[in-house]
Amino acid sequence: MSFVVARDIFQSYGTRPILQRVNVTVEEGEFISIVGASGCGKSTFLRLLLAQERPTRGEIRVAGAEPAEEPGRDRGVVFQRYSVFPHMTVRDNIVAGESFRTRWGMFSGAAKRAARDRADETLRRIGLDHVADQYPATLSGGMQQRLAIGQALTAKPRILLLDEPFGALDPGTRLSMHDFLQDLREETGMTVFMVTHDLEEGFKLGDRVLVFDKPRWDPHDPNAYGATITYDFDARDGGIPFQRIKEDTHVFRPA
Ligand SMILES: Nc1ncnc2c1ncn2[C@@H]1O[C@H](COP(=O)(O)OP(=O)(O)O)[C@@H](O)[C@H]1O
Ligand SMILES: [Mg+2]
Repeated sequence: MSFVVARDIFQSYGTRPILQRVNVTVEEGEFISIVGASGCGKSTFLRLLLAQERPTRGEIRVAGAEPAEEPGRDRGVVFQRYSVFPHMTVRDNIVAGESFRTRWGMFSGAAKRAARDRADETLRRIGLDHVADQYPATLSGGMQQRLAIGQALTAKPRILLLDEPFGALDPGTRLSMHDFLQDLREETGMTVFMVTHDLEEGFKLGDRVLVFDKPRWDPHDPNAYGATITYDFDARDGGIPFQRIKEDTHVFRPA
């Protein structure tokens, strides 16, 4: 049985369908990129995966277990705007990510030093080692987002949910975060779902790229139908079906 199984998911808010007939199975360790028009239900799907919400109909099972009632530590999340702990230094935020308990409370002596060393190594990899002793409020937005991503990745959840996590970063920072994410994924074998606006990023990082779209469209009532998964591309080996023709133009070339 597959690691994540979403079966016949319908999600509506009030009478308005958002998602319909979403069926997908994902193996443990797969990296799933999710793309689709703004407002089509991508973040909603992540909330369902996180078990922050239960679907109107259908079910999501992880590792064959009964559908989760609420978010657990096995599922980590980074939203586009994620707030880190403002009362902790940058280094302590990373340590908190590792333990997801408070500060140094659980560590003592050698364990504390080891956790601190690991945090400093992470900070070096995400380029925040020079601000380790500062508080998040003193950092730029991009640096805070790097810290948030570093913190969530350090927690090494079995399933990592990323909602447009790199959108606010400059191109160079984004590339180094890609490297960091790919390294951590190799080390941990975690399963990743990442929503992105950037198709190139989706194909670069993903093993598969899921496209969410409305299969039916009523011009008189644009909200009459929900979105579903209309394409499930194999993106291994660099995403052969994807080609960037020129800036801002993305074309799918079926393999
Ligand atoms: N809790 C909610 N209550 C009512 N409508 C919602 C709720 N969450 C999302 N929506 C609506 O569902 C649609 C899909 O939202 P969302 O999942 O955020 O889309 P995406 O992430 O693809 O941009 C949007 O029209 C949004 O307004
Ligand atoms: Mg969204």
